[in-house]
Amino acid sequence: MKAFAEMSKEELGSLKVELEKKYAEYKAMNLNLNMMRGNPAPDQLAMSNDLFEGLEEKTGFKTKAGVDCRNYGLPTGLPEIKELFAQILDTEADNIFVGNASSLNMMFDTLMRACAFGEIDSDKPWFQIEGRKWLCPTPGYDRHFKVTEKLGFELIPVPMTSTGPDMDLVEELVKDPKVLGMWNIPVYSNPDGIVYSVETCERLAKMKTGAKDFRLFWDNAYVVHHLYEDEATHGSVPDMLGLCAKFGNANRVYEFASTSKISFAGSGLACMACNKDNMDAAVKTIGIQAICSNKVNQLAHSVMFPDLNAIKERMKKHADILRPKFEMTIKVLHDELDGTDICHWHEPKGGFFVSVFVLPGTAKNTVAMCKDLGVALTPAGATYPYGNDPKDSNIRFAPSFPALEDINKAVQVFTLCAKLSAVNKLLEA
Ligand SMILES: Cc1ncc(COP(=O)(O)O)c(C=O)c1O
Repeated sequence: MKAFAEMSKEELGSLKVELEKKYAEYKAMNLNLNMMRGNPAPDQLAMSNDLFEGLEEKTGFKTKAGVDCRNYGLPTGLPEIKELFAQILDTEADNIFVGNASSLNMMFDTLMRACAFGEIDSDKPWFQIEGRKWLCPTPGYDRHFKVTEKLGFELIPVPMTSTGPDMDLVEELVKDPKVLGMWNIPVYSNPDGIVYSVETCERLAKMKTGAKDFRLFWDNAYVVHHLYEDEATHGSVPDMLGLCAKFGNANRVYEFASTSKISFAGSGLACMACNKDNMDAAVKTIGIQAICSNKVNQLAHSVMFPDLNAIKERMKKHADILRPKFEMTIKVLHDELDGTDICHWHEPKGGFFVSVFVLPGTAKNTVAMCKDLGVALTPAGATYPYGNDPKDSNIRFAPSFPALEDINKAVQVFTLCAKLSAVNKLLEA
């Protein structure tokens, strides 16, 4: 198809008629499709159905060292699970704190501790810092943004590039002592599926910050979530704890991960990883908050996933389900949009999302049209701080949950709405 920007008003006018005819056909279908939930599909969840089966017979509810998981104890987690997360994150078991089911919860709590009590290298609790700021790579994860917004940070957007956040800008912004930290999804970012380059990681680990208590929140939610064998064998980004230590900034990073997209979403295991000094401080406070986490769930996971190999095997099975869904999404985007020059997107090799940039000024309208045709998408703007995409361009898809045929239809509808919104916009100009 010809680039829309090169079409005459007459050509755009006849294209509009054609697209509106298709729109009416879809409207008559009374579709009810949903591409907004980043949830594992039922067949992915079913792989873990036997998580608790025979747990008593297999373990007597005891860890390998004989600790009874039905009782209080092991406040930082089962050694088996600390070792497993250490292998997943390429760090040491001593650096791991195993929490309950949600890594987002651990991120919130970690920030809350810094706000209420300060970090080990803070002069004062962050709540006492007027005009505190937080860097937010965009597009990014709306729930991250909401956490820092709720805790009173000014959210500073930093554009993502194909190798991670724009590091020239980051290095400039962190000179401000009010900038206290930064969100990061280093592997298969939500929503673009971008993997940080080694250079990006190194620059983040060694950059000079105005705040001596600056923190990177390193959300490794998709660290083992590869769609292709090749990516899985070539590994992900470097161990950030080790890298920060290497550049003399050992306290700089808190890492997070969970099994939400490995076993059960919201009912798996989450962890935080950090160096010893941060860990000692965190454990003192967490120990007041709770006696220990859910160890029976940890025990069950340790049986299902005795080592990193078991995780990799499981992730291959997830990939077999997810890969066709991602490929279907990308194929329809190419089939329907190539040549139009109104949209662009990154093609993820893993993770849970695909995000498309439509013609600036048309994302909200595209999402509204999709809704009118019975296709639910993440609200336009959600991938930006305060829900405000200044270009009104980015739209996130979650292809994991719907069936393949539904994805095909939903993305067809999306491309139709993106084209019609673009034509309308260009005709207005
Ligand atoms: C980047 C990212 N971090 C965290 C989460 C939530 O993780 P959890 O279920 O461990 O709280 C998600 C869920 O979509 C996510 O995309």
